[in-house]
Amino acid sequence: MNHFPCLALQSAIRGDMPRKQYLCSMKKNEPGTPAPLPIEAVGQDDPTAASRKRDHIELAFRSTVEEAKLDRRFHYEPLLSGHPAPGSFPPLRFLGKTLRIPLWVSSMTGGTEWARTINTNLAKACREFGMGMGLGSCRSLLYSDDTLPDFDVRDLIGEEQPLYANLGVAQLEQLIARGELARVTQLIARLRADGLIIHVNPLQEWLQPEGDRFRQPPLETIVQVLEQLPSLGIIVKEVGQGMGPESLRALLRLPLQAVDFAAGGGVNFALLELLRSDPALLDAFQPLAQVGHSAEEMADMVNRLIEEPGAELKCGQLIISGGVRNFLDGYYLTRKVRLPAVYGQASGLLRHARGEYEALRQYVETQVRGLEIAQAYLTIKSS
Ligand SMILES: Cc1cc2nc3c(=O)[nH]c(=O)nc-3n(C[C@H](O)[C@H](O)[C@H](O)COP(=O)(O)O)c2cc1C
Repeated sequence: MNHFPCLALQSAIRGDMPRKQYLCSMKKNEPGTPAPLPIEAVGQDDPTAASRKRDHIELAFRSTVEEAKLDRRFHYEPLLSGHPAPGSFPPLRFLGKTLRIPLWVSSMTGGTEWARTINTNLAKACREFGMGMGLGSCRSLLYSDDTLPDFDVRDLIGEEQPLYANLGVAQLEQLIARGELARVTQLIARLRADGLIIHVNPLQEWLQPEGDRFRQPPLETIVQVLEQLPSLGIIVKEVGQGMGPESLRALLRLPLQAVDFAAGGGVNFALLELLRSDPALLDAFQPLAQVGHSAEEMADMVNRLIEEPGAELKCGQLIISGGVRNFLDGYYLTRKVRLPAVYGQASGLLRHARGEYEALRQYVETQVRGLEIAQAYLTIKSS
């Protein structure tokens, strides 16, 4: 038993001593029980009390949150949980592996001088925190190994975490036309990847000065890949504008491992390509950057689609990404959708992944702590 009540109190708050044991330690007349401290001694036990109280008074007027700004997505239930222990978020099975947190690293391009640093940092974070990772477009690896070291992160991420290669649907259409789809299998083997993400980006390609043109609907190309490479695990995503209900319905009926929303609301590649091109084109086509679907809208679409009579779903997992700003958005969206889901971030992680690993580690750690507190006290309001 701890005979120093101040230490016992701190210990009880930190959680290393059960609160009940602490209260027992304070009971009067028990042999060996210290007498309660006089009030002034309790004050000494809390050395930051005076400055904290001063902070409270000074900051109170800057700390009002207007009713209109309340986050209405959740029920907040303060009575029903203790504080979560670090590491308490329940693991989940996803893509045949176990993730410790429902966070996915969305694909970001290789082929630049930063790619190796970024991919190295991201892979290390995936291993440390138990997340999955999509590589950026591996197009440059189809015909050469020059950039392989930028993408070759299997040893860093480990065998336990999902790692997916990435190609555009335009490249797959061309490979099929040339009878060269075996290059995809070789690519997956070289990267020791678990499968392939196909990105479908018609607006980006059309607006990109050096962009490709699709000769057939992307859906046909995806079906051909599934038929010709039946043992390859495939995920399909957009690149930041999401997709509407007909596209989603068609994808959910295919034997895909997952659909990744890559919704609108975050980085927008239609706008990005316009910013790279002629100002006259930017002026003319900027409205195209405003079309698309948010992740929340797509979650609602999925919930409706799975209720359709004869839905014939063959794909039962989702990566909810595109404009997901933080753990609270991710927690909300993964709880809202009625299929097993993780949430993905590209730019949100990129911001912390270009320099020292420690910056990314700290960012991801805050997100994990945030998920744990959300899980303890927040439930989703039913729509
Ligand atoms: C720098 C950068 C490069 C990207 N490169 C790819 C890519 O090669 N392949 C792909 O499928 N998506 C790519 N994306 C799109 C992202 O995977 C994601 O769908 C999009 O950025 C929206 O997510 P966000 O709002 O979290 O950034 C890239 C995004 C960024 C920011």
